[in-house]
Amino acid sequence: MRLEGRTILITGAATGIGRATALAMADAGAGVVINHLAQEDLALALLDEITLRGGRAWTIGADVSNAQEVSQMMKHLANTCPAIDTLVHNAGIIQEKPFLDTTEADWDRMLAIDLKSAFLMARAVLPGMLAKGRGNLINIASDLGIIGRAHFAPYCSAKAGVIGLTKSLALEFAPHIRVNAIAPGPVATAMLSPESMSAQTLALELDIPQRRFAHPNEIASTAVFLASELSGFYTGQVLGPNGGSVMP
Ligand SMILES: NC(=O)c1ccc[n+]([C@@H]2O[C@H](COP(=O)([O-])OP(=O)(O)OC[C@H]3O[C@@H](n4cnc5c(N)ncnc54)[C@H](O)[C@@H]3O)[C@@H](O)[C@H]2O)c1
Repeated sequence: MRLEGRTILITGAATGIGRATALAMADAGAGVVINHLAQEDLALALLDEITLRGGRAWTIGADVSNAQEVSQMMKHLANTCPAIDTLVHNAGIIQEKPFLDTTEADWDRMLAIDLKSAFLMARAVLPGMLAKGRGNLINIASDLGIIGRAHFAPYCSAKAGVIGLTKSLALEFAPHIRVNAIAPGPVATAMLSPESMSAQTLALELDIPQRRFAHPNEIASTAVFLASELSGFYTGQVLGPNGGSVMP
C-alpha cells in the first residue's frame, strides 16, 4: 500500500484518528497536509515527527465548517504544496444530550461541523481533482450514523448525512474519482473519554463483539487502504472497522 507521489489533505489531523492517519499516510510515502483547528503546537509536533521519519508534511489551521476559512486554506495550499489528490475528511465533534434538551444551536453546530464541513471540503478539492482526471475522497463517518444512539441524535444525523453525501458523490464523480467512507466503531481518542461522554454511554460503546476500543491506527490503516490502488474497485462504500458493532 505505497502512496509515493500523493498529496493527502487530512482535516482535524492534530489529534486522534486524524493524527494516526497522517502518520500512516506519511509512512506509506505520501506528502501530508495537516489541517487543524487552532492547534498549531500539536500540528507542528506532528509535522516534526513526520519529517524525522523521512516524510514530508505541511500544516494549515482552518475551521472546516466555515466556507471562507476553507477557501482561504485552499488558496494558501495552492501556493505551498503539490495539488491535493486525496482528501481524508476526519474533523468532527460529538455531543451527548437528551433529544428534548437539544437546542437549535446544538443542532446547527453539530450539523455544521460534522456534515456541512464534508460538503465544503469536497467542493473545495473536487475541481483540482477533476482537472487532473483523478482523485480520492475518504470521509470519516461513524457506526452511530448507521445504527443511531439515544442522546446523540444530531451526531448520528450528521454522520448518516456523511454517508449519503459519500454515495451521491461516488455516483456523480465516477469513474475517475473514488469516494468512500469509513464508519469506525469505538476508538480510543479524546472523543471517547469520560470528559466527553457519560459512564453509561462508554459502557454501551464497549458492549460490542470485540469488547474493546480500537486503537486509532486501526482506523488509519483502513484510510491508507482506501487511499491506495489496492482499493481501486471501491467507490461509494462504507468500510466498517468497528469490532463487530455493525454487521450490514
Ligand atoms: N473516537 C471514536 O470512537 C469515533 C468513532 C467513530 C467516528 N469517529 C470520528 O472520527 C473523527 C475523528 O475523531 P477522533 O475520535 O479522532 O476525536 P478527536 O477529538 O481527537 O479528533 C477530532 C479532531 O477534529 C478537530 N476539529 C473539530 N472541529 C473542527 C473544525 N471545525 N475544523 C477543523 N478541525 C476540527 C478537532 O480539533 C480534533 O483535532 C471524527 O469525525 C469522529 O466523529 C470517532
